[in-house]
Amino acid sequence: MNEQTLSMRLERVAAHVPAGARLADIGSDHGYLPVALMRRGVIASAVAGEVALTPFHSAERTVRESGQDLRITVRLANGLAAIEPEDGITAISICGMGGETIRDILDSGKAHLSGQERLILQPNGGEQPLRQWLMDNGYRILCEELLRENRFDYEIIVAERAAPVLYTAEELYFGPLQMQARSPAFLLKWQRILRHKQQTLTHFARARQAVPEAKLQEIARQARWITELLA
Ligand SMILES: C[S@@+](CC[C@H](N)C(=O)[O-])C[C@H]1O[C@@H](n2cnc3c(N)ncnc32)[C@H](O)[C@@H]1O
Repeated sequence: MNEQTLSMRLERVAAHVPAGARLADIGSDHGYLPVALMRRGVIASAVAGEVALTPFHSAERTVRESGQDLRITVRLANGLAAIEPEDGITAISICGMGGETIRDILDSGKAHLSGQERLILQPNGGEQPLRQWLMDNGYRILCEELLRENRFDYEIIVAERAAPVLYTAEELYFGPLQMQARSPAFLLKWQRILRHKQQTLTHFARARQAVPEAKLQEIARQARWITELLA
């Protein structure tokens, strides 16, 4: 992967960035996503935010070598603090981190959100708490994708501020749009997770040490939801 050939995962994220967007890519690491989108003429400008020094320098290098430094600004900053009001950001991508980390970045950076930005989020696990945050903060999920690359399942969640929407507990767990679409990749993912949960429950039943009842109940409830989903 480089700034010309993105991974399939980042390629699908790129597909959700609107033409002409002013993008903030938070946790940009190498900076491949904003540079690829700028090279393709998709975006008007970008901010690449990074909290850690080594990836920050890596993003700086990618941007400098691409000759895009006038349109892409690389900033060393924690989460949405990379965004300044004059950037006029219209889309934010936060990819390749746990869903809880993405949620925390959004929650602690609320002051940097105008509410007009499209959020393009690619959590590695922790999708349920992330969807919960979106619902609690007035975001509607516009699109959800699931793809498998290098034996990992990746989800992409695209959301915008809209009239309040209420998702059920199951919708927050599985993804409201994915539940409707029931794609082959989605069903295969949940078959794999169900097998894993059933193994965990069998293991707990045999374990000598007591497992907290609440944890047991939570896993049993999730296994029931998945069984119903796949029925
Ligand atoms: C696994 S990389 C993902 C890089 C790229 N977004 C992608 O999807 O390929 C996660 C990056 O997020 C950065 N990161 C984690 N927490 C962050 C935060 N609060 N603010 C900015 N960057 C953060 C890490 O330093 C790391 O470079």
